[in-house]
Amino acid sequence: MHEFKDKVAFITGGASGVGFGQAQIFSEAGCKVVIADIRGDHLEEALSHFKNTGAQVHGIKLDVTDREAFENAALETTRVFGAPPELLLLTAGVNAFGPAEAATYEDFDWVVGVCLGGAINGLVTFVPRMVKAGNGGHIGVTSSFGALSVAPIIAPYAAAKGGVNAMMESYLLSLEPYGIGVSVLCPANVNSNIFESGKTRPEKLRNTGFNMTGETEAFLKSVHATGIEPRELARIFKEAIENDVFLVVPYANPDAIVHDVLARMADYTTPEGMKRVPETIRLFNEKHRAAIEGETGEDPYQNAYPGFGKAREGVGWVADEKKL
Ligand SMILES: NC(=O)c1ccc[n+]([C@@H]2O[C@H](COP(=O)([O-])OP(=O)(O)OC[C@H]3O[C@@H](n4cnc5c(N)ncnc54)[C@H](O)[C@@H]3O)[C@@H](O)[C@H]2O)c1
Repeated sequence: MHEFKDKVAFITGGASGVGFGQAQIFSEAGCKVVIADIRGDHLEEALSHFKNTGAQVHGIKLDVTDREAFENAALETTRVFGAPPELLLLTAGVNAFGPAEAATYEDFDWVVGVCLGGAINGLVTFVPRMVKAGNGGHIGVTSSFGALSVAPIIAPYAAAKGGVNAMMESYLLSLEPYGIGVSVLCPANVNSNIFESGKTRPEKLRNTGFNMTGETEAFLKSVHATGIEPRELARIFKEAIENDVFLVVPYANPDAIVHDVLARMADYTTPEGMKRVPETIRLFNEKHRAAIEGETGEDPYQNAYPGFGKAREGVGWVADEKKL
């Protein structure tokens, strides 16, 4: 997709962080932008940013896990801007960290429900509309470096983002005949508000096996403060979309990073390779430290809050070092 002037862009999670960066960059490129977000306060703040700029931006309060609401958001988009989106950016996401063996059904249902389920709902709602409109376009889903790297505390998030990457490769091939391009964005650390994503966790999915407290949130806030700026990330994503790049790893030598990921996968396939895996992971983290940890060159995990990535109190079966 090369021409953005007067094209309709629909951005989930567009009121904060990565999505808000995208809303700014694509509205500056001439798009009419729908910002769809679950948080009314984020929406209000985002819309006030565009007030008096002349940008055509419309806000919709949307929970991406609500399929009926997604359908209504699609109808509202056409009503307001006269056409379905040509640029669909599925960016809304949440996260929660802790030992895999402590994860509850609710940890999986929430994180996978928003990050993967929300993307699925966006695709099923909009892809038929985009195909029928016959104008081509582009779909960009924000995945994560977590789909490529590995850690013992990201099981629900990795399930969601790994799923996104695999799913979108299928869409890439399926939608090519319609002139609809597909990209997945895999950033590591972004300067966003995701540290407080627990605020939108539904009451019925509150039961977590992870230690998620005010201290965890404060620590994550300090980590994300060192991440790439959302506007810069959106600028990189726009360039990738213009060049039809599918797997967008927004760091130097992305192909070398992915080769290292594939080398780890290959190691998993043989008994000899399995012996190399711990060292392969250590080297991967060392080699790609800058990408993984942020932009400042300082290790934001250096003085990590000791409760980060641990099990919630009362989860008795985890190993002692994974307890608070
Ligand atoms: N921040 C990072 O370090 C980082 C790294 C890799 C990938 N990501 C991904 O970037 C995407 C955006 O996250 P961010 O870091 O900008 O966080 P953010 O919290 O700043 O922004 C996310 C927005 O999504 C909205 N949202 C959450 N749940 C929603 C729902 N159910 N329905 C609709 N909107 C919902 C939030 O209200 C928020 O405005 C996510 O998919 C996240 O997984 C973030």
